[in-house]
Amino acid sequence: MTNPSSLVTREATVPCRVNLIGEWIDFNGGTVLPMALAPSATVQITANGTALDGIKSTNFAVSQNFAIDAPAEDHWSDYVRGALQYARSRNWIESGQDVSVESTIPVGAGLSSSAAIIVATLKAASSGLADVDGEALAFAAKEIENNFIGVPCGIMDQMAVALGEPGTVLALDTRDCSYALLDLPEAWSVVVIHSGVRRALSDGRYRVRRDQCLEAAATLGVDYLCEASLLSIDALDAPLLNRARHAVSEAARSRDAIAALRTGDRSKFGRLMNESHDSLREDMAVSTPEIDQLVCDAVSLGADGARITGAGFGGCIVALVEPERVETWWNALKLRHPSIERII
Ligand code: GLA
Repeated sequence: MTNPSSLVTREATVPCRVNLIGEWIDFNGGTVLPMALAPSATVQITANGTALDGIKSTNFAVSQNFAIDAPAEDHWSDYVRGALQYARSRNWIESGQDVSVESTIPVGAGLSSSAAIIVATLKAASSGLADVDGEALAFAAKEIENNFIGVPCGIMDQMAVALGEPGTVLALDTRDCSYALLDLPEAWSVVVIHSGVRRALSDGRYRVRRDQCLEAAATLGVDYLCEASLLSIDALDAPLLNRARHAVSEAARSRDAIAALRTGDRSKFGRLMNESHDSLREDMAVSTPEIDQLVCDAVSLGADGARITGAGFGGCIVALVEPERVETWWNALKLRHPSIERII
C-alpha cells in the first residue's frame, strides 16, 4: 500500500546508542545491553516526482543527486539511499525524494550513527503506515546494512535506535529478538567519551572477526557461538579459540550485568565492564593502545568500570561512575587526555 501522505514532507528523529555490555555477541546469539542516547539523526523526505533522489545534509550544506536505483558508493548518503530503495520496494514511497539529513551523532565513534540515519529515513518513509512498527524498521535497517551497504553487522544497533528512549536500557536476546526495557538506577551515571580515534566498519576488520566467530561455531557444532561451553572451546586453535572465549565469557558477563542492573549493584556491573574490556583487548583484538590507556585511567581515577564500546578499533569508551564524583572524575581524566570529548 502506498503511503497516503506521500506528497507532504515527512520527518523522523532517531537517537544513537551506546552499548553498556554484550559486545561482539549480537550475531553469536548473546544478550546485549545497549542504551539509547540523546544525540540524534533527523531525516526529512519530500517526494519530487522524478527518478532522482536529491540528498543533502545540513552538516555539509551541498545537495547531490543520485539515480533512484544506483548502488552504494561508499558515501554517507548510501545509508539514506539504501533506505529509500527499500521503502520504494515496499511501496511506502513512490518516485525520487528530496532528503535533508541533520545529525548530532559523531561519525566513526561507535555510537551507531549509520543505524540512526537508516532507521530515521525508513521511519519518515513509513510514517502513517499502521503496520510498520519499530521492530519492522530495525529488521529492515539490518537488511539494508548487510545487503546494500555490505557490512555484515548483527541486529543490536538497529533495535537499540528503533526501540530505545534516551536513557532506557534495552536488554535484547539476539537469538529471538525478545527484549525488556530497563531503567538505569538513579545512583548510576553512564558517561560516554570519544577517544578522538575515528574508525569505519567497512574496512574489513569487522567482517574478518565475524567470519571467525561463525567458523568457530560451525567447528564446535553449535548454532550460535555463545551456546558453546568454556570447556568445549579448548578444541579450537587461535584465533578461533580467542574469539570463542570472548563470545562465551561475554555472554555470561552480559547475563550477570542484567542481574546487577536489576538489583542496582553498580560495583558488580563496573567489574563486568572492566572484564569485558580485557576480553575485547586480548581475545577479540579490537582495542587500541590509546583506548586501553584511557580505560585504565578512567578506572584508576574512580570509575566503577569502563570499556571500549561498539565494534571498537577506536571511537568511544563508556564508563560507569557514581553521580557525585562525575565532574571531578571527568576533569581529572580530561587533564590526562586533553583531546577526549564527553558525549554525555
Ligand atoms: C557494530 C555492529 C553491531 C555489533 C557491534 C559489536 O556496532 O553494527 O551489530 O556487532 O559492532 O558489538
